[in-house]
Amino acid sequence: MTTMLAETSAQTVSMEAVTKTYGDVRALDGITWTFPRGGFTAVMGPSGSGKSTFLHCASGLDRPSSGTVRIGGVDIGRLSEAKRTRLRRERIGFVFQSFNLVPSMDVEQNILLPLQLGGMKPDRAWLDEVVRRVGLADRVRHRPAELSGGQQQRVALARALVTRPDVVFADEPTGALDPRTAREVMALLREVVDMTGQTLVLVTHDPAAAAWADSVLFLSRGRIVDELAAPSPAAIANRWESL
Ligand SMILES: Nc1ncnc2c1ncn2[C@@H]1O[C@H](COP(=O)(O)OP(=O)(O)OP(=O)(O)O)[C@@H](O)[C@H]1O
Ligand SMILES: [Mg+2]
Repeated sequence: MTTMLAETSAQTVSMEAVTKTYGDVRALDGITWTFPRGGFTAVMGPSGSGKSTFLHCASGLDRPSSGTVRIGGVDIGRLSEAKRTRLRRERIGFVFQSFNLVPSMDVEQNILLPLQLGGMKPDRAWLDEVVRRVGLADRVRHRPAELSGGQQQRVALARALVTRPDVVFADEPTGALDPRTAREVMALLREVVDMTGQTLVLVTHDPAAAAWADSVLFLSRGRIVDELAAPSPAAIANRWESL
């Protein structure tokens, strides 16, 4: 029983009274939330409402100004920079709003970078599967500058999935994609969550993308103001209108 509880907490992220301030801007204003293990949560809110800051703090990329973030039960505020980096590398996948690809590396090298940094061996079959599912099988030797914005977005997504992290955080992963590719990427993410028990937290402005999630959190001025469970695109659009 104890093991089971440890296992459960080992794979979730929880935030307690988290704030983040930049000068006099309160980007996060008291966030308390636990992401359910194996759950898929979408985060929506107006530009500047704190979505990226929320993701950066929840994933340990950034330290909150106050409050506590626990990843797998570990209070990351108490870890050294080096330990926090290692924990993140081993348990977290991140898709940045701005892709963050290495220009001198080709697609495959970019995807394998987190494994290489962590000294881990690639699972060739999983790599091929991920590359195929994001539709980049014929682009593995291209560099980012030779790819469209949407293709770069998909490299970033593959890079986040290849380590099989406990939790993937994705900041607008379909923002640069055409509707059809966006739908394929969302279907892939949904399938990864369902098949592997992956926890996924995804920021999006698109009600159609958010509707793939188990629940949608709405942020406004650095606070969680609502949650919709099992939402339809129409319900999401409705709630969005009244934010
Ligand atoms: N490094 C920073 N320095 C100063 N202010 C910042 C910094 N990062 C974010 N902010 C401010 O914090 C607030 C929240 O920003 P954040 O990037 O989290 O918003 P967002 O919801 O992701 O917006 P968008 O939808 O445009 O990406 C904004 O007012 C922003 O100007
Ligand atoms: Mg943002």
